[in-house]
Amino acid sequence: MASRPVRIAPSILAADFARLGEEVRAADAAGADWIHVDVMDGHFVPNITIGPLVVRAIRPLTDKPLDVHLMIAPADPYLEAFAEAGADSITVHPEAGPHLDRTLQAIKGLGKRAGVALNPATPVDHVADVIDRLDLILIMSVNPGFGGQLFIPQALEKAREASALIGDRPIDLEIDGGIIPETAARAAAAGVNAFVVGSAVYSGNDPATYAGRIKAIRDAAEGT
Ligand code: DX5
Ligand code: ZN
Repeated sequence: MASRPVRIAPSILAADFARLGEEVRAADAAGADWIHVDVMDGHFVPNITIGPLVVRAIRPLTDKPLDVHLMIAPADPYLEAFAEAGADSITVHPEAGPHLDRTLQAIKGLGKRAGVALNPATPVDHVADVIDRLDLILIMSVNPGFGGQLFIPQALEKAREASALIGDRPIDLEIDGGIIPETAARAAAAGVNAFVVGSAVYSGNDPATYAGRIKAIRDAAEGT
């Protein structure tokens, strides 16, 4: 397996939404590699968050890639809006629509990185036939919809399976949900290189704490 660089992606779902711009800047300054943007529609997941307008608003505040996670169904009608708003990668759930291959082609056609998120009950083989369209596989280690949930250990076995499927392909393997230093270390050992971190970075929303927390996750993932 090619060694993929460690990427830490704070999830703004745990940010103080009354100061979202400052929180994005603070995560950037604190060493975030990507900014993870959780989009929820209250239909695919039992929560509603933000849409393309907010991605557009935060785009000029950071040069870091915006790692947009669409927990919406259908996703196809909104791909262009998120691409134009400034998303760098767009990750969809296979359950969000009937034609995953077409959806991935559409994301690539918009010039963006294409990702697939696998819910805890969705097997890795759901991406086997589209693997060569992917830039990213996101292993959900919680059921999507909320931050601050407990890590689901079965995600580690799925990460190992996904890592084997990826092989030497230039595909990032990302994990999302309940990531703290301890679970990050276990996920890295399973082949994960990108780590979504919501509450373990943003809880308390004190920007002075973000750099140390991001470093703790990075050190755990790098085994240092
Ligand atoms: C959950 C989201 C996750 C969540 C992670 O549906 O996709 O990105 O924000 O939050 P923590 O790290 O607190 O579990
Ligand atoms: Zn997410």
